[in-house]
Amino acid sequence: MNINFNTPYISGKELYYISQAVMNGHTAGDGPFGKKCESLLNKILNLEGKALLTTSCTSALEIAAMLSNLTTSSEFILPSYTFVSSANAFCLRGAKPIFADIDPLTLNMDLDHANSLITSQTKVIVPVHYAGISCDMKMLMDIADTNNLTVIEDAAQAIGSSYNGQALGTFGDFSAFSFHETKNIICGEGGALISNDTRKKETAEVIREKGTNRAQFFRGQVDKYTWQSIGSSYILSDLSAAFLLAQLENFQSIQKRRMDVYTRYKSRLAILETKGLAKLPFIPSYNAHNSHIFYLLLEDLSTRTRLISHLKKCGIMSVFHYIPLHTSPMGESYGYKRGMLPVSEHVSQTLLRLPLCSAYDEEVADKVSNEILYFFGLT
Ligand SMILES: Cc1ncc(COP(=O)(O)O)c(C=O)c1O
Repeated sequence: MNINFNTPYISGKELYYISQAVMNGHTAGDGPFGKKCESLLNKILNLEGKALLTTSCTSALEIAAMLSNLTTSSEFILPSYTFVSSANAFCLRGAKPIFADIDPLTLNMDLDHANSLITSQTKVIVPVHYAGISCDMKMLMDIADTNNLTVIEDAAQAIGSSYNGQALGTFGDFSAFSFHETKNIICGEGGALISNDTRKKETAEVIREKGTNRAQFFRGQVDKYTWQSIGSSYILSDLSAAFLLAQLENFQSIQKRRMDVYTRYKSRLAILETKGLAKLPFIPSYNAHNSHIFYLLLEDLSTRTRLISHLKKCGIMSVFHYIPLHTSPMGESYGYKRGMLPVSEHVSQTLLRLPLCSAYDEEVADKVSNEILYFFGLT
């Protein structure tokens, strides 16, 4: 039996809703399914009217960057250990990335290090909740307040996670979620932007609609629509929103399926931590997490390479990421070099993600765990 790293989970009504979108004759963005998704998302996050669906988390970050008044002398702080979109969105506006190292326990931005990087040019800070595990939002918001920084949460992986009871993705001036097929809640490619300021949400709506006030026109608020600001094509089609609605309606059961697999990995593999062979995800006391990723932190690169190859021989796909952004060709073009952010570099070489998605059950976690325990001579 082959176990892929990820298999998209169909919760029930996805195809039915897509066929309804086709029958409705509204397949472009901002249709009835999109509206329902936005209101359900607001409910899940306990927000009032702040969510806008986008074509991806990347596009939500790009809109947030456009709303952050950046210039070519601006700097923004982000962890090096993240996906490229956390950086690209702001680099597209000409701002300079300033990379912080990560905390070896949570794998989130090391906030003491981030604090030490703030200059008079720093305008934005981008907390990334890696694996759905929360950054220390109290400390981060205090740093942002003191230094008058815009907070843009990259909550791509964090739907359903919270910090001291408040949903992640609701702290920042803006936040971005992903519904890419590898995330907890999916629609192929998709995302959402949360704007904490209602006026900025209105501008975000214009940017999302190619820089026009077409949304106001559709609502009958203006009698024609026209070019208002820079913008792009960032609205999720109603075909994708139809798929997404089925997922959001099953939010609780999808999260539970994922949590069951995660919990089984945790109990079967705890022995690796006891014996000092690997570390399992660390969950801080302020965080309720969403089981987005189950990873092992192995001793070194060679152990990880051998374990990946053992699992592959057994038909099990495990993966690793990220190449720290400061060591990438783009990172080097900003003056960074290998060796500058040691924790990010070490984690990048030793972290292994195990197959985890809502389509799997505890039996899959058992099969993968058995092979890992065998690899370490523990069966
Ligand atoms: C931390 C982070 N930010 C941004 C993204 C980009 O999300 P999307 O594919 O929806 O643009 C991802 C995707 O994996 C991610 O993990």
